[in-house]
Amino acid sequence: MNSMAYFRIKGQQKLSGEISVTGAKNAALKFIAAALICDEPVTLTNMPNIEDVRRMLKLIATLGAEVTHDVDAHTVTIDPRPMSNFEITEDMAKSIRASIMLVGPLLVRFGKACIGYPGGCVIGRRPIDLYLKGYQRFGAEMKIMGDTFEFVSSNLHGMKFVFPIVSVVATETFLITASRAEGITILKNAAVEPEIIALAEFLNACGAKITGAGTPTITIEGVKALRGGTVAIIPDRIEAGTFVILGALTRSQIRVTNCIPEHLENILLHLEMIGASFEVGDTWIETKSYDHNLRALNIKTHEYPGFVTDLQAPFTVLLTQAVGSSLVHETIFEGRMFYTDLLNRMGAEIILCDPHRAIVEGPHELMGRKLESPDIRAGIAMVLAGLIAHGETIIGNIEQIDRGYEQIDTRLRALGADIIRVTDI
Ligand code: UD1
Repeated sequence: MNSMAYFRIKGQQKLSGEISVTGAKNAALKFIAAALICDEPVTLTNMPNIEDVRRMLKLIATLGAEVTHDVDAHTVTIDPRPMSNFEITEDMAKSIRASIMLVGPLLVRFGKACIGYPGGCVIGRRPIDLYLKGYQRFGAEMKIMGDTFEFVSSNLHGMKFVFPIVSVVATETFLITASRAEGITILKNAAVEPEIIALAEFLNACGAKITGAGTPTITIEGVKALRGGTVAIIPDRIEAGTFVILGALTRSQIRVTNCIPEHLENILLHLEMIGASFEVGDTWIETKSYDHNLRALNIKTHEYPGFVTDLQAPFTVLLTQAVGSSLVHETIFEGRMFYTDLLNRMGAEIILCDPHRAIVEGPHELMGRKLESPDIRAGIAMVLAGLIAHGETIIGNIEQIDRGYEQIDTRLRALGADIIRVTDI
C-alpha cells in the first residue's frame, strides 16, 4: 500500500444501487487469534481484505503459523501447528492493537510470551492494564523490560475476572485463553457484542465449553485440546451502518446487502428519529430518497446494544445536515472527537465542549477541503462529508481508512460516487 496515496472526491453526485457488506474487521482479528489455540488448521471464509487483517496475518506468520491467504476468495487458512516463536516484536505490536490478544495463545502453546507495547488507532490513551491483570490472573508471571512485557507460566489455570469497565477485546482475549486454561473461568461485566457470540460459537464448535456469551456473565471450562474447522466471518455491522448513514446523508436509494439488520437496531432507531427513510429486510437495508428536513438529535455512545462508538463520527456528519442543535456524547473513548475540527473547516458548526462532548448546529452546507484522515472511523466520516460537499475534497493518510474498509473507493464508485485513489504524488 502506498502511504502517499490520497482520495480525491467530487461531492454532490447522486448515488444509487447496491453495496454488499464485507466480513467484520472486529470479528476477523479475533478469529485469527482464536485459530492459534486450536490443534488443527482453521479456515476462515468471508475474510475482509483490509490492512488490519493483513497486519495480523503477517504477525502470526512471524510466530511460525502457516498462513494461506486466498485474497480473491476472501479465505484464509491458518495452521498453528508449526508455531515456533513466542516473541511479538515492538514493530509488530505497534502495527496493530489486537496483537495484545496473542499473548494468551502464546502462553497456551509455549508457556511464554513477549510483546512490545501495542499500537492501534490514535483515539485516547487506550491502556492495556486489563490484559496485563487478566494474564496474571490466569497464572502468568509478568516482567516489564523497557517497552517489552514478558510473561511466563508453567500452567494456565481458570480464574474469576470482574471487568471494572466493559472491554470488547479483553473479553474476547480472556474467552480464548480460558478455553485452554485448566478449570473454570468466570467473566463478569463482560462485553456482549455480536462478535463475541460468534467467537464463542466457533470455539464451541471446535470443542470448547463456553456458556453465557452475549450476556454479561460468561463461564468457560478449559479443555485440553481443540479441533480446527471452517467458519464464516459475520458481516461487518459498522461497515453496514456506514453505508446506511451514507444513503441517509445523500438522500439516495442504496441497498446495503449481506448484513444482519438485527445488529444495527440501535443505529436504525436513531436514523428513524432523525427522520431518514429506509426499509429493512432479512439480510438487507435499503435507504430511500426523501425531501423533508432532518431533525437534530442527541446521541450518546454506549457498549452494545447501545449506540456504537465506531459510528459516532459518520453519524455526526449526518447531524451537520439536521435542523437544530444536536449533542454528541462520546462516552467510551476520549480522543475520538477531534475530527470535528476538520468538519468545521468544511463549513460545519460544531463546538467541542470537552474531549467527550460536542454540539452540532445545523444544517450547514459543506465545502470541499484538503484534509488528513485522523483514524479509521473519523477517516470514513471525512469520505462521507466529501461526498456531500460542494467542490473537491482531498483526503490524505488513507492507509487509516484501508485498515478497516476494503476497496472503499471502488465500491463507492459503483454507487455513482466520484472518488478516486491517487497514488502518484
Ligand atoms: C473494540 C473495537 C473497537 C471499538 C471498541 C468499543 C476491536 C479490534 N476494536 O476496541 O472498534 O471501538 O471495541 O466498542 O474489536 N480500556 C482500559 N484498559 C484496557 C483496555 C481497555 O481502560 O486494558 C478502556 C479503553 O480505553 C476504553 C474502554 O476500555 O475506554 C473500552 O475499550 P475496549 O472495549 O477495550 O475497546 P477495544 O477492545 O480496544
